[in-house]
Amino acid sequence: MTTDMTKSVFSDVKKRIKKSVILGDSGIGKTSLLTRYAENVFPETTRPTVGADHFFFRRNLRNGEEFILHQWDTASQERYHSLVPMYIRRTDVVIFTFDITDVKSFANLVNIWYPIFDKYEKETEDMDFIPFEKIIKVLVGNKLDLDLKHDIEFRLEVSKFAIQNGMIFFEASAKNGTNISSIFDYIFDKLLSYEFPNIKLENIVLNDENKADDKTSCFQNRC
Ligand code: GTP
Repeated sequence: MTTDMTKSVFSDVKKRIKKSVILGDSGIGKTSLLTRYAENVFPETTRPTVGADHFFFRRNLRNGEEFILHQWDTASQERYHSLVPMYIRRTDVVIFTFDITDVKSFANLVNIWYPIFDKYEKETEDMDFIPFEKIIKVLVGNKLDLDLKHDIEFRLEVSKFAIQNGMIFFEASAKNGTNISSIFDYIFDKLLSYEFPNIKLENIVLNDENKADDKTSCFQNRC
C-alpha cells in the first residue's frame, strides 16, 4: 500500500534521489543525530533501532527539480549485522559514526563497521555500483558535548584513520546541534558537484534564504 510519505516523495516533480547510510555501534547517537538534522530536536528518550528506519532530506534546485537524500538509519545490534550489506548496496554516502567519549566505539568502527563496508564494496561484482572512490565517506565523532577530556592523541588517531580512508572528519553533538548541519551541507555539496560537475553550486541550489525550507524532511510517515 502506498503511504502518504511515498506519495509525497514520488510525486510529479522531477527528483534526483541519492542514498545514504549511517553505520556505527549501538547507542552512539545515530538516530539522535539524524533526528536533530530532520527536526532540529534532541529526542530525550530513544529506543534501539529495530531493523532500520529511514528519512528523506531535500534540497530544491533552481531548475524546479528536487534533490533528495534517502537516509537509512541502521540497527547496530549484533543480530542485525547480516542486514548491513543490504543497506550499503548502491549507496552514494556512508556516515561512519562513533562516540567521541568512547574509544571502544571508535575501535569497533575501525575493526567491524569499516571492514563490513570495505569487504562488501571490494567483493561485489555488480556493474551498476557507485565507484568506490565516488562514495562519499564521512566520519562523525558524536557526543562532543560530553567530551570534557578532549584527548588530543585520540583526535590524531581518528584524523589519521580518516585521511587513510578518504573520509572527512566532523566532531558533532546531536544534543546541542554542533556541526550537524555542516555534515549534511558537506554531503549535499559533494553530491551536487558530482551530479552537476560543470556548474557552480550557487547556480544549482536555491539561495540560502530558502535553505531552511529546502531542507524539508520526512521521517517514516511524518512529513
Ligand atoms: P541504536 O539504535 O541502538 O543503534 O542506537 P543509536 O546509535 O541510534 O543511538 P541513539 O540515537 O538511540 O542514542 C543513544 C543514547 O545516546 C540516547 O540516550 C541519546 O539521548 C544519547 N545521545 C545521542 N546523541 C547524543 C549527544 O550528542 N550527546 C549526548 N550527551 N547524548 C547523546
